[in-house]
Amino acid sequence: MTENLTSSVHSLLQQMTLEEKIAQFMQLATHFYEGSFSAGQITGPMEEMGIRKETVLNSGSVLGASGAREIRSIQDAHLKENRLGIPLVMMADIVHGFETIFPVPLGIGCSWNMELAEQSAQVAAKEAAVSGIHVTFAPMVDLVRDPRWGRVVESTGEDPYLNGQFARAFVRGFQGKDLKTDLHRVAACVKHFAAYGAAEGGRDYNTVNMSERELRENYLPAYKAALDEGCEMVMTSFNTVDGIPASGNATLMRHLLRDEWGFDGVIISDWGAVKELIPHGVAADEAEAAKKAIQAGVDIEMMTPCYANHLQELVESGVVAEELIDEGVIRILQLKKKLGLFENPYRGADEQQEKEVVLCAEHRAVARELAEKSCVMLKNEGALPLQKEQKVALIGPFAESGDILGAWSWHGSKEKAMKLADGLRMKLDSAQLLVGQGCDIQTGTEKQLEDALRIAEQADVLVLALGEASSMSGEACSRSDIRLPQVQLDLVKRLKELGKPMIAVLFNGRPLDLHGVIDQVDAVLEAWYPGTEGGAAVANLLFGDSNPSGRLTMSIPFSVGQVPVYYNHFNTGRPYYPEDTESHYVSKYLDIPNEPLLPFGFGLSYTTFSYSDATLSENTLTKEQPISLTVKVKNNGKLAGEEVVQVYIQDLVGEVVRPLKELKAFKRIHLEPGEKKVVSFTITEEQLRYHHANLDFTSDPGAFIAYVGPNSEEGIALPFELQ
Ligand code: GLC
Repeated sequence: MTENLTSSVHSLLQQMTLEEKIAQFMQLATHFYEGSFSAGQITGPMEEMGIRKETVLNSGSVLGASGAREIRSIQDAHLKENRLGIPLVMMADIVHGFETIFPVPLGIGCSWNMELAEQSAQVAAKEAAVSGIHVTFAPMVDLVRDPRWGRVVESTGEDPYLNGQFARAFVRGFQGKDLKTDLHRVAACVKHFAAYGAAEGGRDYNTVNMSERELRENYLPAYKAALDEGCEMVMTSFNTVDGIPASGNATLMRHLLRDEWGFDGVIISDWGAVKELIPHGVAADEAEAAKKAIQAGVDIEMMTPCYANHLQELVESGVVAEELIDEGVIRILQLKKKLGLFENPYRGADEQQEKEVVLCAEHRAVARELAEKSCVMLKNEGALPLQKEQKVALIGPFAESGDILGAWSWHGSKEKAMKLADGLRMKLDSAQLLVGQGCDIQTGTEKQLEDALRIAEQADVLVLALGEASSMSGEACSRSDIRLPQVQLDLVKRLKELGKPMIAVLFNGRPLDLHGVIDQVDAVLEAWYPGTEGGAAVANLLFGDSNPSGRLTMSIPFSVGQVPVYYNHFNTGRPYYPEDTESHYVSKYLDIPNEPLLPFGFGLSYTTFSYSDATLSENTLTKEQPISLTVKVKNNGKLAGEEVVQVYIQDLVGEVVRPLKELKAFKRIHLEPGEKKVVSFTITEEQLRYHHANLDFTSDPGAFIAYVGPNSEEGIALPFELQ
């Protein structure tokens, strides 16, 4: 923070009353600033929350406003009333696009493409910034291992290293290099700190229970990566961390985030999370919730009035030191300074630019490219790619559906989304494409089924567009049964009786139990929620105009009974080996395999790749002397394709148990038909560090194995030693 910036913030702080300081902590949704309030009356939800007019007039930020005109008028009304002219900061959830919606983060994760991920965030930032938004509540970097949890859709997956790479890419895209001068960027807010994705039973908002070592090994690295990339804000999570809710957890916020990691930016609670300290049972009332949250280091209280209604009394009675208030206000004012809001409270809000850039063709082209790279081909026994002379029956609830934007696409338009039928119409003459609903997402009629069977009988090949409604994933959308709805499985079975080639395209927000689909059809393309350009991207992939290159970043379980299932697991003392049919007392199920149906890193292409000549420059690695791993990768097919070359490392003996494999590096390469490339990686001692029994983060001399290959289950093993 430059000296003059800090001094001007401190001089402003000196002028503020305690009430004005506390009001900076208040964040309310847009509707609190519209309608009745703009006439100056406190009505409706504000009244119920006991929020006073002065608090709103002096509040520090607004949640969820958008639109250059609307935001300028909210800011104008605010600045007219605010005694010291302190501008509002406008914050909103721009997670995977503003109006141009990109694939959901679980899909973007499967692209393994940091450049496109960064570009998607930059496009989102530009559209949001010209629409008046200053801060986005993204990236969400919660590590996920349980597809029952509805919010896996917002994560890039189960690996700490990969999630960290995406966290960095998103922060770069959102924030750029200088928020004050680049008005087409927004400040980022990494969430949800911490370990929200580990909710027990995959049930949203549920308890999180884990050792500090597990937290530091797997769940914290991606948040740290975002902050190391300069992320301006952190959002607390709803869940407990070691028995204390994150929003009241001083160990997590003050000692780790601020003291150990040195984060001096703004911490905002998630929606209502400060007041939720009461139902959690660590605060008796709003006053105690306010005391615990401010002492834990939460600056902005989102959507509840504990700070607004109680902090003044807590400070005046000496329970809370005013210094705690001051430090929070300084962080908020510094954020506003960094955003240039004191000089230009409207920042990037520009109605003309809004018309030019929001949902423009250039942005849609980026969304289409990323959607193509986010889809994962899970199976193909020759039915794909489709041929242009084939007669296609497109059947299923997603055939003509615009519900392909996924969670957190509040500003996107389902109507303006490219539906799958639209995409196929761009490829086929009208006489060659027959479209039928077959059923709805969860229900169906005899007529729908009969219509579907009738068009299917006329077709050469059936494309089934199946999946979950977007309302079945995202926040508060946990599912105990992660199969497709039964009516869709029944549709598959009936169509199967026709004996025609069948391809399933899946639109869903979580890894599904694919039984009843993948075993019934000839090919499966996992499209997740591919976004505004989804239909065009999927059509390009189905016809081979684009070669599928997505790789899973979250394991697809054999069934929900296997959950949590993830690749970087421990061996246990009684490991089970499928070929061992004798041993009984080993870690296995009686009724299903241990392995996931499809592993982390998996994905098919229209071509095949082979790996050869994998070597290490040395068999011994030292702190001073890294070694390099090289491997030759060849495209054996007739189509150009992209391969994600992955490097995993196994630490054979540790002071604590170590995962069988950990992703340490990867490279996405393009290979023309027949082309061979030498791909090289550097292995360093730093990559071998882990948290020991006393939580020291160091490496041990000893034996390791590097695996290089196409996914977490296949690879060439290369042993080496760390000295
Ligand atoms: C929600 C979500 C959080 C979001 C916030 C504001 O409850 O948990 O991800 O940023 O509220 O909309």
